[in-house]
Amino acid sequence: MTSIALGADHAGFPLKEELKAWLGARGYGVVDFGTQSAESVDYPDFGAAVATAVAAGKAERGVLVCGTGIGMVMAANKVPGVRAAACTDAYTARMSREHNDANVLALGARVTGRDAAIEILDAWLGAAFAGGRHARRVAKLAELDRARLGAGESADAAAR
Ligand code: RB5
Repeated sequence: MTSIALGADHAGFPLKEELKAWLGARGYGVVDFGTQSAESVDYPDFGAAVATAVAAGKAERGVLVCGTGIGMVMAANKVPGVRAAACTDAYTARMSREHNDANVLALGARVTGRDAAIEILDAWLGAAFAGGRHARRVAKLAELDRARLGAGESADAAAR
């Protein structure tokens, strides 16, 4: 069964707990990266933790929740190897898997209620990457990661 890294900020914390229970009841292996309360925290910290776990292969997929899903998707997509999608409906969630091979899903607890979030998550987990022409495009996303990493290495070398 797919292993899932889960994370949220304070705005996403209650929905994260709902999603964790739903995933656990269906047999998914869940690693909870926090936050663990409604106390104010910074979404990039949790987005980065989940995204890094997915990029490192410590979890197959990541699910992130903040107020809108926007901060989390921005943070997660800074991590090379991560293809994060912020989704507010089941169709885009399914497409993000079939066409984009999204490995992280971002949800907004202030825009998406519990039942809709579970519908989106269920659609996302149930969809598979279609490959074919989409594989060529996803490979180009990986090329962007490599170019960025290469540029970073060059900048490091220049600074030395
Ligand atoms: C927190 O107030 C809120 O800014 C955060 O949860 C998220 O929506 C940011 O994108």
